[in-house]
Amino acid sequence: MQKITIAIDGYSSTGKSTVAKQLADYLGYVYVDSGAMYRAVTLYAMQNGIISKNNFDIDKLKESLSSIHLKFKKESNWNKAHIFLNGKDVENEIRNLEVSEFVSPIATIHEVRVKLVAQQQQMGLEKGVVMDGRDIGTVVFPNAELKIFMNASAQERAQRRYKELLERGDAISFEDILKNIQERDHIDTTREDSPLRKAKDAIEIDNSEMNLEDQFHVVLQLAKDRIAGRI
Ligand code: DC
Repeated sequence: MQKITIAIDGYSSTGKSTVAKQLADYLGYVYVDSGAMYRAVTLYAMQNGIISKNNFDIDKLKESLSSIHLKFKKESNWNKAHIFLNGKDVENEIRNLEVSEFVSPIATIHEVRVKLVAQQQQMGLEKGVVMDGRDIGTVVFPNAELKIFMNASAQERAQRRYKELLERGDAISFEDILKNIQERDHIDTTREDSPLRKAKDAIEIDNSEMNLEDQFHVVLQLAKDRIAGRI
């Protein structure tokens, strides 16, 4: 069967990565979480005095880019690939609220985007990939055969993220999460380089009222129809 490229973009915490992973597993495709790459660069910046509450040394970030090596690796007993930053598994560390607070400013930097987009395009060369992010359908794979744009209300997204972080045992308040989501929406949609936009040919799904199962079935049907050439 002919393999296609599937781009899933949308706002923070819309469940893009969950549905992208389910879809990739079902189709036997590779799943790539592009947000994890921006998060890993952010973690590097935090660990190397490049970004903190009162400081963002953009020049140092640009100079450091050649020292940042990202790789996805999957062991058979893991349910998804983990991201490695310079050889270290940082999959868990990149999900905390501190990284979430700094990632959007880091993702505005053109040189960061050029580096990560090139690596993402490399991973999609053979098709059979489901990638989620903010600019996958607009910049990374403008020719993707299927583009989905996910949306949900900020309240609903904050509620989901809050539950996720509580389950991990993080001590956080709902208000902080909601504020972080609203700030990231603002930075992601208003940045100059590759702002979050629905591609003209993307299909929009608002999943505020959908559970994971409903959402998966909607997206899977679209993928099957596209692969079979029905849409
Ligand atoms: O998907 P996520 O929430 O893990 O992404 C974290 C941040 O990374 C997001 O706020 C914006 C940035 N990002 C991006 O600019 N482009 C992408 N393709 C993916 C993520």
